Amino acid sequence: MAKDKTSYACNECGGTSPRWLGKCPHCGAWNSLVEVAATPAASASKNRLSAGVQGLAPASELAVLANIEASDVDRTPTGLSELDRVLGGGVVEGGVVLIGGDPGIGKSTLLLQALDALQRVGFAALYVTGEESGAQVALRSRRLGLDDSQVQVLAEIQLEKILATLDSARPAIAVIDSIQTVYSDQLSSAPGSVAQVRECAAHLTRAAKASGTAIVLVGHVTKEGALAGPRVLEHMVDTVLYFEGDTHSSYRLIRAIKNRFGAVNEIGVFAMTERGLKGVTNPSAIFLSQHSQPVPGSCVLVTLEGTRPMLVEIQALVDTGGPSPRRLSVGLDRDRLAMLLAVLHRHAGVACMDQDVFVNAVGGVRISEPAADLAVMLAIASSLRGKALPQGFLAFGEVGLAGEVRPAPRGQERLKEAAKLGFAVAVVPKANLPKKSDAGLARALEGLKIYPVERIEDALEVVRSL
Ligand code: TYD
Ligand code: MG
Repeated sequence: MAKDKTSYACNECGGTSPRWLGKCPHCGAWNSLVEVAATPAASASKNRLSAGVQGLAPASELAVLANIEASDVDRTPTGLSELDRVLGGGVVEGGVVLIGGDPGIGKSTLLLQALDALQRVGFAALYVTGEESGAQVALRSRRLGLDDSQVQVLAEIQLEKILATLDSARPAIAVIDSIQTVYSDQLSSAPGSVAQVRECAAHLTRAAKASGTAIVLVGHVTKEGALAGPRVLEHMVDTVLYFEGDTHSSYRLIRAIKNRFGAVNEIGVFAMTERGLKGVTNPSAIFLSQHSQPVPGSCVLVTLEGTRPMLVEIQALVDTGGPSPRRLSVGLDRDRLAMLLAVLHRHAGVACMDQDVFVNAVGGVRISEPAADLAVMLAIASSLRGKALPQGFLAFGEVGLAGEVRPAPRGQERLKEAAKLGFAVAVVPKANLPKKSDAGLARALEGLKIYPVERIEDALEVVRSL
């Protein structure tokens, strides 16, 4: 029965085809067609946009841009300040948030805490669980010390029933944990398949917009770390958050990678405790490991995530490799590592051709900014020579293919944070050197000896002379 209602849409270009094809007839992408419901579900709830010529919003009056009042959206703080920071202030009425992360990292815990906090200040909150039973959710709430929580729980995986509940209960916020478990009757594909995930997310998004309920979709990530399901899921929602961190350490980061209502690249930092996730308001020093003595292959980087500088230890291990030496990185881009090794060789004469090179950002933090280059290269050179960088040493700066060291954005803030934490020696791009005339800054940087460098070979020279 479902068969004759379905057609196929391309994940890449959105083009449609009446039957499944290996190659999209519109954009030529391979294996990108997935099943979609061709007609809106017959059992449409009142929530769904009624006008719906192929799901389009009802035509409204034409308006001139200058005459439209520019109002910012209202945000409701969740009460968890680190979560609000990544959301851009709080949840937005009718806003849809997708939150992804490895299993066991704390998605359900965080969202239950947020729902409870919102419910306590008078917002109706609904937790739809498809992965756990109501009893399991209750067990978690007890563990979190939320014994008297009034959050409503619905253990359901069928989309139509979830939509009907949203329609009748009209919560201010609803969490769907997880979108991969939800399935619609209208499609014949299995729950968790690309077609199901995409269709269910689309219906839930429409329901959010029509009713004003803020919806949070929990998404699973694939082994490669991307959200499982079609890329369109990320386009469909207003905000995409990723949970990251090493499940063996207690710290967790939440990063906004898309936010229609706030800044991206802001991060929230939490610590997983016996009683749930607690915000870490001053996270600058949590990604440093404690060495009693400086060790070879370790260099501290000041990275800037969102609005806060953080110090992260970069570790490198260079060891004799086989015929095809390995280059592995954890928390850093592997292609960039290969590039930095080539620059090290060509411009500074540091050769790792026959060596295995491993680099790691401590604490499971992922660093994407190029300002990490200098610290990565100094850590590699330090490991290769078996010589530790001095106590209280740090570096940051981007390194280009010509061997030049380029400035990092907001270098002074980075230096101030390092000085505050008692760091003593900094190797930084020349353009990041603070101006002498700024007396207040000079006082803030007291105790930190700064070596400005213009090229990678200069940086290695400075390190050798220390
Ligand atoms: P969970 O929120 O279930 O993760 P996800 O939904 O992302 O799969 O978190 C599970 C982990 O968190 C589990 O290993 C137990 C741990 N945990 C704590 O350490 N303290 C707590 O208070 C809670 C509720 C969980
Ligand atoms: Mg979970």
